Amino acid sequence: MSGPRQLTVSVAVEDVHKAYHGRAQQIVALESITMTVRSGEFLAVVGPSGCGKSTLLMLIAGLLPPTRGAIAIDGRPVAGPYTDVGIVFQRDVLFEWRTILGNVLLPAEIKRLSLPASRERALHLLDEVGLAGFEDRYPYELSGGMRQRVALCRALIHDPPLLLMDEPFAALDAFTREEMGAYLLRLWHERSTVIFVTHSIEEAVALADRVVVMSPRPGRIVEAVDVGLPRPRGLDVKEDRRFHDVVHTIRELFKARGMLWEKTPEIAGRGR
Ligand SMILES: Nc1ncnc2c1ncn2[C@@H]1O[C@H](COP(=O)(O)OP(=O)(O)OP(=O)(O)O)[C@@H](O)[C@H]1O
Ligand SMILES: [Mg+2]
Repeated sequence: MSGPRQLTVSVAVEDVHKAYHGRAQQIVALESITMTVRSGEFLAVVGPSGCGKSTLLMLIAGLLPPTRGAIAIDGRPVAGPYTDVGIVFQRDVLFEWRTILGNVLLPAEIKRLSLPASRERALHLLDEVGLAGFEDRYPYELSGGMRQRVALCRALIHDPPLLLMDEPFAALDAFTREEMGAYLLRLWHERSTVIFVTHSIEEAVALADRVVVMSPRPGRIVEAVDVGLPRPRGLDVKEDRRFHDVVHTIRELFKARGMLWEKTPEIAGRGR
């Protein structure tokens, strides 16, 4: 395996509240969030739209300050933008005027890492996600799934100890989405701590060690569910009985709080 180091970090979120000041009123996005992500853990966060999942990732990355409470990475308080992090957003946000290789190399350039070594790593990452030979192409020449694979390589180019993913595969079709999960597991190699936000319970269970279930806004943690499936994992994890048991447990948690309806989707969609 290539790459310079094996290093992950822990993340501690302690009684965090976040309120936004809208034009007319204050919107409480998160209320009393306390959680610890172990070093090297793959944590998924699931919850309804608007419950503060993206806000939580922004707070952890130091891109927004909490209204109350504190966040620490490896015991050090997050006081401003945290740079030892890879972030993958819901939309791939590639720079259209840069080549595929140029896009992947961007974080390495910003962090002033050795360019020849970064270039070699970028080509290796692109190869691992099936994009060898595409390095000199431009984003507009790629499909949505290919673009998101480039965004994944870019997030990993500097071998970040922390990877934050905000519904990274939500815009993709079901088949490509499954494929992306497999690519992520292959590239991740248990070399980063991961916080992965998704609307899909199945995706969360297939990928994560633990799934944090959130309530509707103001977002609170309802429960953290251990997945307990062995690694390394592939897509065949979805054929495992334990996979279905954990998915069922999480669905029941949502149902018990009126957050999932089996037969009346028009009610479930209300409030979006
Ligand atoms: N900059 C902002 N100003 C005011 N309100 C905001 C701002 N950003 C988010 N909010 C509000 O805070 C709440 C949480 O938003 P957030 O984007 O974190 O939710 P989310 O769980 O990521 O939702 P989704 O699943 O739809 O992406 C929402 O009610 C949203 O309207
Ligand atoms: Mg969001």
